[in-house]
Amino acid sequence: MLAKVGNPLFRDMPTTIFEVMSQLSLKHQAINLGQGFPDDRGPDDVRHAAADALLNGYNQYPSMLGTPELRQALAGHARRFYDLDVDWASEVLVTSGATEALGACLLGLIEPGDEVVLFEPMYDSYLPIVRLAGGVPKIVTLKAPDWSFTRDDLERVFSPRTKLLVINNPLNPVGKVFDRTELALIAEYLQRFDAYAVCDEVYEHLVFDGRPHIPMITLPGLRERCLKIGSAGKTFSLTGWKVGYITGAPALLQPVAKAHQFLTFTTAPNLQAGVAYGLGKDNDYFTGLAASQQAKRDRLARGLTEAGFKVLPSSGTYFLIADIAGMGFEGDDAAFCMHLTEAAGVTAIPVSVFFAENPVRNFIRFCFCKQDSLLDAAVDRLKTWCARSV
Ligand SMILES: Cc1ncc(COP(=O)(O)O)c(C=O)c1O
Repeated sequence: MLAKVGNPLFRDMPTTIFEVMSQLSLKHQAINLGQGFPDDRGPDDVRHAAADALLNGYNQYPSMLGTPELRQALAGHARRFYDLDVDWASEVLVTSGATEALGACLLGLIEPGDEVVLFEPMYDSYLPIVRLAGGVPKIVTLKAPDWSFTRDDLERVFSPRTKLLVINNPLNPVGKVFDRTELALIAEYLQRFDAYAVCDEVYEHLVFDGRPHIPMITLPGLRERCLKIGSAGKTFSLTGWKVGYITGAPALLQPVAKAHQFLTFTTAPNLQAGVAYGLGKDNDYFTGLAASQQAKRDRLARGLTEAGFKVLPSSGTYFLIADIAGMGFEGDDAAFCMHLTEAAGVTAIPVSVFFAENPVRNFIRFCFCKQDSLLDAAVDRLKTWCARSV
């Protein structure tokens, strides 16, 4: 018998809700609007650039920091979209997806006992890595329906032991886009407590209704305090590529690069070539991406509303939230999502799984980055189900 067991942090972790719901969805042949990935092939020219590099280019270990070509393209992207001067050689690190970027940032910066401020609802990879690094989570619960927070909330969680804050903007799962006033309030606390920010901005090009995306790193006084994370998966609708990137001041990036060195060391060079090409595409590509996802958001929001759901506003990401409080269902959001999969043939994700301390149990998350025909079919099923159930 093996007497030694695995790390309880991972051993005792339940199977993720995405896997549970996807399996249930398959079993019931439901339309899966749970997990967030687009169901198209991604831009042809970007895929061709990667294919060409695979067949005709260099296929050995690229630089640990990322190919110079991609790092230069990322510096160009920062200048073009955010008027931010970035030294490609010392301020950019390419990673194997934003997930690895987050892991490298948290492992590279947190020392055991450091306090880490997080907002809930939050992306599921944050807490396990904060804990693995020995960080002590200090959580601010955002308040529905606008997912707001107050100065008092920050006052409660910041202390001289705060090492860093993690912010996801635009925010998965609820589609909140933090405005300048909110970011400035956070900036004030980062400066007052001499803390860093790890800024998960993977949905930077999926912001709707003409709103700007404001990278935290562009706020006055934050240039040296922020690590900005992006993902080619979201920017080019190629989530399987797992190419991410971090931009930040050399002193902050240096320990993160050391962590990355022993996590993955580097990332497939042909995919880096595809992303470098993609970042050079004209503005129409980037505005077109946001416009097409905005249209899908509107299509699904309209359909859900017609079916009888109360839909909350979503200003970014791939997701929108429906409030199930008034639907007469007895049970929480998880039970509702299971029932919806079985009875209506449509799968959503319960929002409570994105909370660690104060879960709300009356919201479910739908993903809208799917073919219009699939969104319409899901809405038809929901209308039939709602008509039967009310
Ligand atoms: C908020 C957030 N951060 C990070 C990631 C991970 O991105 P990647 O696929 O590049 O690892 C995702 C993916 O869904 C996400 O929603």
